[in-house]
Amino acid sequence: MFAASNKMLNKAARKWGFRFGAAQVVAGETIESVIEKVAELNEKGLVCTLDHLGEFVTSKEEAIEATQYNVRTLEAIEASNVTSNLSVKMTQLGLDIDREFCIKNMISILATAKKYDKFVRIDMEDYAHCKVTLDIMKELRDVHGFDNVGTVIQSYLFRAEEDVEALKGIPLRLVKGAYKESPEVAYQNKSEIDDNYLNIIKKHLLNKSYTAIASHDHHIIEKVIAFTKEHNISSNQFEFQMLYGFRNELQMELLEKGYKVRVYVPFGNDWFGYFMRRLAERPQNISFALKGFFSK
Ligand code: FDA
Repeated sequence: MFAASNKMLNKAARKWGFRFGAAQVVAGETIESVIEKVAELNEKGLVCTLDHLGEFVTSKEEAIEATQYNVRTLEAIEASNVTSNLSVKMTQLGLDIDREFCIKNMISILATAKKYDKFVRIDMEDYAHCKVTLDIMKELRDVHGFDNVGTVIQSYLFRAEEDVEALKGIPLRLVKGAYKESPEVAYQNKSEIDDNYLNIIKKHLLNKSYTAIASHDHHIIEKVIAFTKEHNISSNQFEFQMLYGFRNELQMELLEKGYKVRVYVPFGNDWFGYFMRRLAERPQNISFALKGFFSK
């Protein structure tokens, strides 16, 4: 987790290119190459959300560049007719520099997305950015009139249940949470995180709100399926989401059972933080890294 947020390592990684197995979980470095991957996934029946990797930028130039890149990604999705939405991180769009500047960047992305009838998901980052992310998301919807934006709630946070209740009616992606958070604000114990995860999923579904269950955990997925059957919740009210390169068989199994499965497809050269978080979450993922290293 230290490596994931280390600026020097992130910078060096951009120069190394796709070493250490990142290519297995990051779909490509350019828009063109990633659109090809999305077309392949669509061919199998999977829908996607594209994420141009990058976070915690410190200059306005970088944030503007990232905004334009996201706009171009939406244009490429439209031009190639693939089925994909977009996921963004607001610290890539200048959130740490100036709130209003970040909102302006979000508006330009959302206006393009609206034109092409696409949905934009604001990924949830660390706890320090949680409240401001929710506030901006609500402002974008209520003040600026964008109904094509939603965000993510992390079940490891104590505040998750209250947030889900407050966001009734808004499409949410629900996750366990990927950052290292303090015991002051977050559950540390796996079983508490899992219990709260099921709790918020059930709450959002019972609130009749569109729910994206983003997890590779087959125990959770089985319980969600049983719950939706028990409560006659239509499969149009939810979807499963998994990361590119993870649990491909499970993705296909769910698809064959008639569920919607969306693959989160990260791309770009700023892959180091994303890749390190995946390694930290599941040490078995190190086998990806080793395979990549030895195949060089
Ligand atoms: P978890 O890692 O808890 O694993 C539980 C069990 O599932 C394991 O013990 C194992 O049995 C099985 N399992 C898990 N992975 C497996 C694998 N690769 N192969 C075989 N078995 C496996 N986080 C965040 O903070 N903000 C965000 O915006 C997002 N966005 C997001 C989008 C999408 C599409 C996904 C899938 C995830 C995120 N996350 C996220 C990350 C999320 O918070 C979480 O850290 C990871 O998904 C890991 O938790 P899981 O629920 O997948 O299972």
